[in-house]
Amino acid sequence: MRRKLAAGNWKMNGTGESLAEVDRLLRALPDPCCEVLICPPATLLHRMAARLEGATVALGGQTCHAATCGAHTGDISAAMLADAGASHVILGHSERRAEHGESDLDIRAMTEAAWDAGLAAIVCVGETDAEREAVNTLDIVGGQMASSIPDAVTGENLIVAYEPVWAIGTGRTPSLDEIGEVHDFIRARLERRFGPGVGRSVRILYGGSMKPGNAAEIAAVSNVDGGLIGGASLTADDFAGIIRALSAGA
Ligand code: PGA
Repeated sequence: MRRKLAAGNWKMNGTGESLAEVDRLLRALPDPCCEVLICPPATLLHRMAARLEGATVALGGQTCHAATCGAHTGDISAAMLADAGASHVILGHSERRAEHGESDLDIRAMTEAAWDAGLAAIVCVGETDAEREAVNTLDIVGGQMASSIPDAVTGENLIVAYEPVWAIGTGRTPSLDEIGEVHDFIRARLERRFGPGVGRSVRILYGGSMKPGNAAEIAAVSNVDGGLIGGASLTADDFAGIIRALSAGA
């Protein structure tokens, strides 16, 4: 049985003042609750970890370097994220792929680095608008998975996030049937490559304009094990609304 996960991706948002939002979120968490993860900017990880002491909310980074240390000005290693309190890291987000030229092979190397540091990797895949129109979405997603996910997958060290690029921050989402088709495909690929036991235990998140109003119906789609939430994770009210929808039956 895969536990639903609500993962908040704060992107480049948040300063010390935003920690109050986390206090509000903690007060609003339902019981029973799905698993909750917040991925704030790296500058907030340490303070947020202190704030979350004793709470069941996990922390993650938004990317990491593939190397463990060295002359990489501005970069952060997986071990540094772990040292600051992270248990997870988002890798290969489409904004990283587009703005920083991250390739599937880069993401594969980062995933291995994350695993070496004991972090679970949330590997993002998804097609652009043009790719959706020009070719089969499943070919794009299948190709990204094959090249960016390393071989040593266990049920716990990998989470796949399906994020159609055109749905991120736009208020547009695929139909429930379209989400189900891609998630079923991702599950089948995971089972084929890693065997049924491991393949069935990896969680698959949907990401892209998930809101309190659509989270329950998306979460009910086959093989949707939670959400990777950007804009709506920034305010406690909205994120708690999504968490409540994902916690039904938790
Ligand atoms: P969004 O972002 O929820 O603001 O669409 C999702 C993401 O980029 O992870």
